[in-house]
Amino acid sequence: MIHTKIVHIEPENIDEKKLQEAAETLRAGGIVAFPTETVYGLGANALDEEAVKKVFKAKGRPSDNPLIVHISEIEEIYDLVIEVSSKAKMLMKTFWPGPLTLLFQKSNKIPNRITAGLDTVAIRMPIHPVARKLIKLAEVPVAAPSANLSGRPSPTRPEHVIEDLKGKVDIIISGGNCSVGVESTVLDITGDVPIILRPGGITREQLEEVLGQVDADKALKGDTDQKPRSPGMKYTHYSPRGEVIIISGNLDDIVETIQKLQEEKEDLGLKVGIMATDETKERYKKGIVISMGSRKKSASIAANLFAVLRQFDEESADIIFAESIEEKSLGYAVMNRMLKAAGYNVICAGGEKN
Ligand code: TXA
Ligand code: MG
Repeated sequence: MIHTKIVHIEPENIDEKKLQEAAETLRAGGIVAFPTETVYGLGANALDEEAVKKVFKAKGRPSDNPLIVHISEIEEIYDLVIEVSSKAKMLMKTFWPGPLTLLFQKSNKIPNRITAGLDTVAIRMPIHPVARKLIKLAEVPVAAPSANLSGRPSPTRPEHVIEDLKGKVDIIISGGNCSVGVESTVLDITGDVPIILRPGGITREQLEEVLGQVDADKALKGDTDQKPRSPGMKYTHYSPRGEVIIISGNLDDIVETIQKLQEEKEDLGLKVGIMATDETKERYKKGIVISMGSRKKSASIAANLFAVLRQFDEESADIIFAESIEEKSLGYAVMNRMLKAAGYNVICAGGEKN
């Protein structure tokens, strides 16, 4: 156990003195959890291999899973990569600062531990004012995975970070809830056609508007014969302690199937959780019913998703039935995280094929 200092920073009214201490801790090789617009990150000086090691240790993260390097200004990228293509420049201009992570051929300034031996490095420039200011004050690029224990849902609220990392990191900056709620989109632009390795805060539709054709990594569909090109996508992830099962189909069939399964599981003495939506929550009369938000607003579902998954732990749900949602806009990233939380366990309600 190490002593963890918890520092409150108001994103709309940043106290620079308080943030300066966190920046100095980063520069001196310490590790600091901080808010971003997507999820909280656990940061270390990206140029300091020993500091980066501490991040892997605190999270219990497998060493073959590379980290994203965060910068505060576009110019900072030129030291870290070999080349910035015109496609990359266009994407940076359109989506940075913001929840898009791009892959580049790495320069030799980036320690191999960050990229887990790959010759590409993932880089993003967050838009959250605390994240931006912290990186700027630290005057170093900041390697940061999500600030959760490996395997758990990513933290979108300060209490999630405190729950997972208190006693394991030097500083936790508590700076409110994350507005996007799912992690950044990871996009490989090193080949001819850009490939989404992880769907996230910048939607496929947004990317297609700028790029035309965009592919998705085949492994995203849960095809276990395909090795994911983003190493992190192969791990079970986002999992609450209870078993998660997704129910897909048309909405009435979903609700009826969940009601039936709930009866069965409760008869066995299990505590049942239901991940519902605003449109359906009143239809469940029993169990731990938590709405993810309105089906009409995938952004609100994204913002709540990880907090809802953690809530089922607090309620000690043994089994969680989750309604599937439409894979449009942020719904694509939401369904990706739900499928991973469920280990791709999906029941098609009404018997139709998925
Ligand atoms: O929104 C986010 O991206 C958050 C915040 C903190 O910025 N960070 C985050 O980091 O989600 P992490 O470490 O939890 O997820 C990084 C993902 C992993 O799936 C990892 O495998 C992938 O990015 N990744 C990192 N470097 C890569 C590379 N060179 N090639 C392919 N995938 C890479
Ligand atoms: Mg993560």
